[in-house]
Amino acid sequence: MLVEALPYIRRFQGSTLVVKYGGNAMIEDQLSIEFAQDVVLLKLVGLNPVVVHGGGPQIGDLLKRLNIESRFVDGLRVTDEQTMDVVQMVLGGLVNQEIVSLLNQQGGRAVGVTGKDGNLIQARKFKLERRTPELDAPEIIDIGHVGEIVNIQTDILTTLMKAGFIPVIAPIGVGADGESYNINADTVAGKIAEYLSAEKLILLTNTPGVLDTNKQTISELSRADVERLIADGTIGSGMLPKVECALEALSGGVGSVQIVDGTVSHALLLEIFTDSGVGTKIS
Ligand code: ARG
Repeated sequence: MLVEALPYIRRFQGSTLVVKYGGNAMIEDQLSIEFAQDVVLLKLVGLNPVVVHGGGPQIGDLLKRLNIESRFVDGLRVTDEQTMDVVQMVLGGLVNQEIVSLLNQQGGRAVGVTGKDGNLIQARKFKLERRTPELDAPEIIDIGHVGEIVNIQTDILTTLMKAGFIPVIAPIGVGADGESYNINADTVAGKIAEYLSAEKLILLTNTPGVLDTNKQTISELSRADVERLIADGTIGSGMLPKVECALEALSGGVGSVQIVDGTVSHALLLEIFTDSGVGTKIS
């Protein structure tokens, strides 16, 4: 494997790699240790990994323990003031720091930031519009502190990377008046990859990539392939948001987007340093 890795190590040296970390790879102990080893190894051989994490299940757990009700509209968490406090505590305080110490235990030097640090993720309130045949104008639903990204200010990341640190980012945005916003982690990873002109965006998921109609993983896809598979329904509702995020990142100049099965041992290294990879590469 090392010999197979050599050309990729040479090719990707110095390039930036944004990894969205979530799902089983984050929950299962053994997988999370292996993830941390992979990221540290990538850094040591000269790539620049940047980690963006989610934390939906952990947020749900704490809300439950605090007896705060969780509500979702179209898959988005309704985030009132009180819920936003919990989102910040869990993402910024708990999950982020767990990942930082995991990486540090494996010999890395990781630093955790939220989108507020260095004004990294600038956001505004997301207005959820819903169209119904009965109404002429779309209905606007208030789901509280859910944000959409307005701008990314990357200096905090480039400064950290240059100094040898691995940035670990919690997907919390900051509004013009300093308010906090809860933002989807895939979207954050995509935008950060775009603003960093990353070579790769890697999305770790709980599925073996994009599947064909026989449930086999499709190894390589072009943008045109993806559009065809969306149109004919092969890419279904679960994968659709990931794939749309992938297309947006590609339009923004990211070299490739790789959707990788995070339940596979050392999935990251296998994807980046072997010819066939373990997921779906969209470029
Ligand atoms: N290791 C190479 C890369 O990261 C090739 C990966 C191919 N992956 C795939 N799913 N077909 O670019």
